[in-house]
Amino acid sequence: MQNYKDVLAEILIDADSLQKRIAELGIQISADYTGEELLLICILRGGVPFMVDLSRNITLPHMMDFMAVSSYGVGKRESSGSARVTLDLQTDIRGKNVLLVEDIVDSGHTISSVLQMLETRQPKTLKVCALLDKPERREAHVPIHYLGFSIPNKFVFGYGLDLDEYFRNLPFVGVVDLDKYKPST
Ligand code: IMP
Ligand code: MG
Repeated sequence: MQNYKDVLAEILIDADSLQKRIAELGIQISADYTGEELLLICILRGGVPFMVDLSRNITLPHMMDFMAVSSYGVGKRESSGSARVTLDLQTDIRGKNVLLVEDIVDSGHTISSVLQMLETRQPKTLKVCALLDKPERREAHVPIHYLGFSIPNKFVFGYGLDLDEYFRNLPFVGVVDLDKYKPST
């Protein structure tokens, strides 16, 4: 894999802006669920850095769980139709306040099918917290109750988002320069 600096067109959201917004989301979520308990569900793998930082900014007692889904899609960077659960939760969510934590809502298909599936397990409440939203790309309607940033229709990486599985560790969100990126296969 190339160095990220060679494929970075621009930094879209720098590390300070991310952390500042995530702190605000933590305060808002803590206020909204006052007196309640909360279960954060991270959608692997992109949601990991976001959920970790968000969790540190939530002052209520809460639990965490993880799930993974793979979307049936045409291209590698697209998702379509429905999502298949490849790693299910360990927690029984019935009667719980569930907050799904996702890196980005793009077409909306992933979150939309996860929501439908989790709804059948009868949680007390089921809401969505997404770091990023690309509204121009939406095909399936999804409610986003807590949003970090709305972004333009560009392929981004860093802070959980990958470029062919690399660069999830970067502390900022950057735009890929597709002219400079050379996929390795
Ligand atoms: P959706 O089902 O189209 O909403 O797909 C959402 C998933 O696609 C996200 O969880 C990401 O894994 C991936 N994705 C969408 N846009 C980007 C992007 O710009 N960079 C990296 N991954 C993305
Ligand atoms: Mg993802």
